[in-house]
Amino acid sequence: MRILSGVQPSGKLHIGNYFGAIAQFVELQHKGEGLYFIADLHALTTIRDAAKLRELVHDVALNYLALGLDPAKAILFRQSDIPEVTELAWVLSTVTPMGLLERAHSYKDKTAKGISADHGLFAYPVLMAADILIYHSDVVPVGKDQKQHVEITRDIAVKFNQTYCPGFDPATGEGGVLKLPKPMILDDAAVVPGTDGQKMSKSYGNTIDLFGPEKEIRKRIMSVKTDSTALEAPKNPDTCNVFALLKLFASPQELKEIRAQYERGGTGYGDFKKRLADYFFARFGEARKRYDSLAQDPSYVEKVLSEGATRAREIAIRLTDQVRNATGLR
Ligand code: ADP
Ligand code: TRP
Repeated sequence: MRILSGVQPSGKLHIGNYFGAIAQFVELQHKGEGLYFIADLHALTTIRDAAKLRELVHDVALNYLALGLDPAKAILFRQSDIPEVTELAWVLSTVTPMGLLERAHSYKDKTAKGISADHGLFAYPVLMAADILIYHSDVVPVGKDQKQHVEITRDIAVKFNQTYCPGFDPATGEGGVLKLPKPMILDDAAVVPGTDGQKMSKSYGNTIDLFGPEKEIRKRIMSVKTDSTALEAPKNPDTCNVFALLKLFASPQELKEIRAQYERGGTGYGDFKKRLADYFFARFGEARKRYDSLAQDPSYVEKVLSEGATRAREIAIRLTDQVRNATGLR
């Protein structure tokens, strides 16, 4: 089984990225061949500052390593180190119906907010399809917000195979050059709420980051929005952002106790937030130490990425040859 996923270096990573995506990457690296990349070409649709982009790419690499991806097991690489991806994206774009892209959330959400979209943002799902298809990926672990992109990838792969592979059977996926991938989504971490209760996202300023000064992180946790129920009064855990975040960390037994504490009353939101902060540092303490020590050794991180690129590129070149043959480019 080949597992592939990527994260955009468009900001510091947060616990939504961890529970929605990276925690699965780490677990899955023992279950199949994992390829995990840094989607720097995608990030160009939002980051327009060269120094910033370089810093953020390096930071995602540090996150991958510190959080437990092992370069001896998984292939870790930078998207733009595989130039074949952009060629495949072009070929795929010639079989992608406009309507498919017009329905994509990434584009619809931005235009709905009045942000004018460039072609990169509009064509983003095609590049993502190329990322996935070029490595013959079987499964793509992502947060719920990316599910539609994986479905679009399947639609594009079917179109390509129907156009260029005479023996292709869309019902089974057999007989095509491009393999049809499946998304993999963890239900309980499908959408991690941010400090304001909206989906936690780098672009909404509502994140709890994984790395960075402890004081800053404690402050963010203490700023999670709650209602104004008095300390003594019983509280509803199911509508509380703090509880939603505690769910990610606590064991089922601990969560039962916390739920009872909410319903009993007598504990303030501040105490629940402190408990959340304790869980945070217990869970990420080791990773935070690893992050600091890896940050001292940028040449090691570069070496990991360049070895990953060599391994990923071998796979990409084979698929590119098949696509060139199928289309008549060669
Ligand atoms: P962001 O929205 O912060 O820019 P990305 O779009 O780069 O995050 O997402 C990287 C990965 O993390 C994706 O697989 C995405 O689905 C997942 N992810 C991001 N935010 C969340 C969240 N709040 N809850 C669950 N998963 C998330
Ligand atoms: N679009 C994804 C995100 O914003 C990042 C990404 C790019 C990706 N290409 C991918 C994820 C391929 C999985 C597979 O999070």
